Amino acid sequence: MPVIVDKIADALHLQSHKSTFDSNVTVIFVLGGPGAGKGTQCARLVEDFAFCHLSAGDLLRAEQHREGSEYGQLIQTCIKEGTIVPMEVTVKLLEKAMTATLEEHKSGDGWADGRGRFLIDGFPRKMDQAEMFEHDVGKATAVLFFTTTQEVMLERLLERGKTSGREDDNVESIKKRFNTYKDQTMPVIKHYEKLGKVIEIDSSVSIEEVHQKTKSAVANLLSGSTA
Ligand code: C5P
Ligand code: MG
Repeated sequence: MPVIVDKIADALHLQSHKSTFDSNVTVIFVLGGPGAGKGTQCARLVEDFAFCHLSAGDLLRAEQHREGSEYGQLIQTCIKEGTIVPMEVTVKLLEKAMTATLEEHKSGDGWADGRGRFLIDGFPRKMDQAEMFEHDVGKATAVLFFTTTQEVMLERLLERGKTSGREDDNVESIKKRFNTYKDQTMPVIKHYEKLGKVIEIDSSVSIEEVHQKTKSAVANLLSGSTA
């Protein structure tokens, strides 16, 4: 391609730009409201399919507490207020963690010859995160979307709050997180629905039942992909 065309394409975010990971790396986003069961189900899927499970929230909390982090205060405030941390911070943390995992040469299904498979939990929470990740880091194969009622989520979060030590598992923060979810995250889900990438799973039922449904959906996905 002539250089000028390349440059225009790049400016328009067309395909001349190369993201960090190619289709050898399978990425599945995991979404759902706070307390929908994302983390619980991801842990099960790690055992089933040798995924690397990266929780965006966990990575942000680790960065918040990392000595010398310039983002500690910012992350703390966003988490407590249930707002979204600026996308650059979260996308960079995910990219770094993915790179480190691939360099480890994990073993098991889906990890030979530079391949890898990731569950990216609690991400993208906002459209800008989705765009930045897919442009700079890699493409998502699918979105697992766990759904249940707000009452169930509230009950689970308050129960978790008894032992989680999280600064946002209290009624006040939870309300704000529900609002952010509705305003910022639902449009992300709608976007991926239009692309036919969303697999919706009712997570009101038992952990075991949700796991069985999720496992068969993911088995289907992986049998159709290269990794
Ligand atoms: O997913 P989790 O509930 O652990 O996220 C906790 C908080 O971390 C969110 O309420 C939000 O403040 C921040 N977060 C974010 N962007 C993400 C994931 C989490 O800003 N993609
Ligand atoms: Mg979680």
